[in-house]
Amino acid sequence: MAHYLITGASSGIGAALAGRLAGAGHHVTGIARRQQRLTELSQQHKTLQGYMADVGDPAALMTAINDAKTNSGPVDVAILNAGIYQPQDGTKIDPAVYEHHMRINYLGVVNALAGLVPDMITNGRGHIAIVSSVAGWRGLPKSAAYGPTKAALISLAESLYFDLVPHGVKLQIICPGFVESEATAVNDFEMPDLISCDTAAVEIINGMETNDFSINFPKSFTRKMGFLRFLPDRLFFRLVGKQTGIF
Ligand SMILES: NC(=O)c1ccc[n+]([C@@H]2O[C@H](COP(=O)([O-])OP(=O)(O)OC[C@H]3O[C@@H](n4cnc5c(N)ncnc54)[C@H](OP(=O)(O)O)[C@@H]3O)[C@@H](O)[C@H]2O)c1
Repeated sequence: MAHYLITGASSGIGAALAGRLAGAGHHVTGIARRQQRLTELSQQHKTLQGYMADVGDPAALMTAINDAKTNSGPVDVAILNAGIYQPQDGTKIDPAVYEHHMRINYLGVVNALAGLVPDMITNGRGHIAIVSSVAGWRGLPKSAAYGPTKAALISLAESLYFDLVPHGVKLQIICPGFVESEATAVNDFEMPDLISCDTAAVEIINGMETNDFSINFPKSFTRKMGFLRFLPDRLFFRLVGKQTGIF
């Protein structure tokens, strides 16, 4: 049985993943800020341990990762999933909101990598999956603070692929469409092809068993988004603007 480390394990996709993997008998380290949620999860699963840390705080996250290694051994698989999403009106820019998204969604992953990569390189093995989003593929309405963090993660993972894969470390990027969670509960529009966190967790676990670099789901949505990705700009803006009723 492997030692999985999951950031953002207290709710949504992360909690569903943590529950499924612990249910299958793996050792699971769950990291998040809400201690109570982590405690509840660890009460449900004997092989799950929660560690409270803010992924945006490099020292606190490093301490949590080191504690997890001390208690459960080297991390075999890391799913870097913690993230926030606040829809934005781009006519009113508050730099603090943009900075906060970057600190949690992007630097939160970098902070975790700092605690995980050195051991994996030394051991010549490991598996890291980073949770991005289809919102990182092209700029979408309301996503001005969130989307760039997810685009940055895709670029980060592509770049790290060249550094880590030669050392035996498997690297994957996960791009979900709409998943029903606390994060998307703020959306005031109908989310196409919405799936549950449990379905997302199954897609991720299955995708991580493949050798694909990108894990994209649900296909009914990511195929459409994949098409938009390669559309010429003029057509892309017209189509998305029309679809969302913006113009
Ligand atoms: N839902 C979707 O439609 C969708 C689509 C594409 C990608 N995603 C991505 O999937 C990931 C999980 O999102 P979700 O939908 O499951 O939302 P969620 O239910 O809000 O879960 C977010 C998780 O991240 C944790 N988190 C947030 N800020 C943190 C911080 N500063 N330090 C540590 N942990 C933090 C939260 O825990 P605490 O609050 O306890 O810290 C929570 O466990 C995110 O990266 C999100 O961008 C979601």
